[in-house]
Amino acid sequence: MSAEPNSMTPNYYTAKGFCFTSAFWMILATFAGLLGATELMAPDLTENIGWLVFGRIRPIHINLVLFGFVTPGLLAAACYILPKLLKTELFSEKLGVVTVVLWNITLVAIVVTLAAGYTQGREYAEMIWPVDMGVVAVFCLLIVNFVMTVKRRTEPILYVSVWYVLAAVILTACTFSLGNIIWRPDTGSLKGIPDAIILWFYGHNVFGLLLTPLSAAVTYYVLPRACKTPLYSHTLSLLGFWSLIVVYTHIGTHHLLQVPVPTWLKVIAIVDSVAMVIPVMAFLINIWYTVQGKLGEIHADVGAKFVFTGTIMYFFVSIQGSMMSLPQVQRVTHFNNWVVGHAHIGVLGFAGMIALGGLYYILPKITGKPLFSRLLADFQYWMILIGVVGFTVVLTIVGLIQGNAWLNGEAVYRILPSIHIYYVARASIGLIVFTSALIGVYNVIRTLTYQPKESAT
Ligand code: HEM
Ligand code: HEM
Repeated sequence: MSAEPNSMTPNYYTAKGFCFTSAFWMILATFAGLLGATELMAPDLTENIGWLVFGRIRPIHINLVLFGFVTPGLLAAACYILPKLLKTELFSEKLGVVTVVLWNITLVAIVVTLAAGYTQGREYAEMIWPVDMGVVAVFCLLIVNFVMTVKRRTEPILYVSVWYVLAAVILTACTFSLGNIIWRPDTGSLKGIPDAIILWFYGHNVFGLLLTPLSAAVTYYVLPRACKTPLYSHTLSLLGFWSLIVVYTHIGTHHLLQVPVPTWLKVIAIVDSVAMVIPVMAFLINIWYTVQGKLGEIHADVGAKFVFTGTIMYFFVSIQGSMMSLPQVQRVTHFNNWVVGHAHIGVLGFAGMIALGGLYYILPKITGKPLFSRLLADFQYWMILIGVVGFTVVLTIVGLIQGNAWLNGEAVYRILPSIHIYYVARASIGLIVFTSALIGVYNVIRTLTYQPKESAT
């Protein structure tokens, strides 16, 4: 893998900080997932230890995968990609480092408060007000840094990756503030159905307007570069960007099809969830035509390999998601492990894979030396692939068993024995993913710190 010359390259402290943040928190995030899975398998395991009960571990797992592992991984790549595409340096590395530090303090606050039982009890918006403020603050700092970098650019063209990164940070600052009702510090919520609607407006946008655009930005940069080929179509990239912004913002209510929200809102959510095929396919066709005939180049670059696999997962999760938005399908899939399977394909298989890909792609560039171990990175790739496919198969089967049992009027507790074996399988697969996180952090830390033999003094 080519490394850029040392003398003239900027120091990339912010990108390095986000790389470390992502790799480190992936360990705790997957550990929380593993613990939660073990508790579902053996419910008495941690009884009477308040801060370890499933109800606290689950939100810790979710918020850490989201804000600890995936988002910082994608932001690490963004902090490298933006200056490259704009032919300038990041506006302020100092501000970037402050952002990384504040980000980590916020993550510690997330774990401590949730473990201590301080929660607003709203999915993906569990954090209490002071912690919410930390999240809003880091996104505001990112907006300043990224917008000022764009302002200082020497490259007149704004490539699509720049659009996606800016959209992700600006829109997330807005939707996070709205969804967490930050003007009500005491409860962080509205009352009744309006609260559910606004929560899920934010809830799905955290995937659609944060993880998806950042992942698209990284893909649009890494794959054409790794394949040394121009993007297939500028027009398709614009169609993909604008249709994502227009369509995704309306689909949150597909989480509430079983709830008495106004029918017109459900209809919009369903129609737009199906219409998601437009941004998804515009992006995927563009990328897949770009890399057509270049699978060798992708295979040669472990970062590109992760990213390319992420695009395949994006195809599956999106087609599945559009189907899950149909009320007839949701009668079977809602409120059970089918959705958890979908969540892992999306957040781990799509965005997580691309975050790791971006990280491994930029590490040699920002350190000016090869990756510490390509073998370990490859190993991690296979472990995560096995993990995603394994989770998907197991959780989809469990979901179908649960969904059909409930449709037939079966009581929940009566089907628990028949799904127990799948919970054991899920926890075992989780052990593989957790181990891959340990390998990943070792590789990242060694890459950041080791001296290659030829340049060692
Ligand atoms: C050690 C590996 C992992 C294990 C064992 C694991 C396990 C779990 C468990 C037990 C839940 C709660 C499910 C429930 O409420 O019934 C969950 C939820 C979730 N996990 Fe993981 N997980 C792992 C890794 C990951 C990773 C790496 C990601 C993303 C990068 C992720 C994303 C999520 C999401 C988004 C949810 C929420 C699902 C929903 O509400 O439908 N997990 N996971
Ligand atoms: C065309 C694109 C997509 C559509 C139409 C879609 C649709 C859906 C629907 C209908 C649900 C709710 C299912 C239910 O509660 O019964 C859902 C849940 C979820 N989706 Fe997607 N999805 C899409 C893409 C994605 C992507 C790309 C990600 C991740 C980056 C993702 C992550 C999730 C997660 C984490 C949940 C679980 C939320 C919860 O905790 O209940 N989805 N999706």
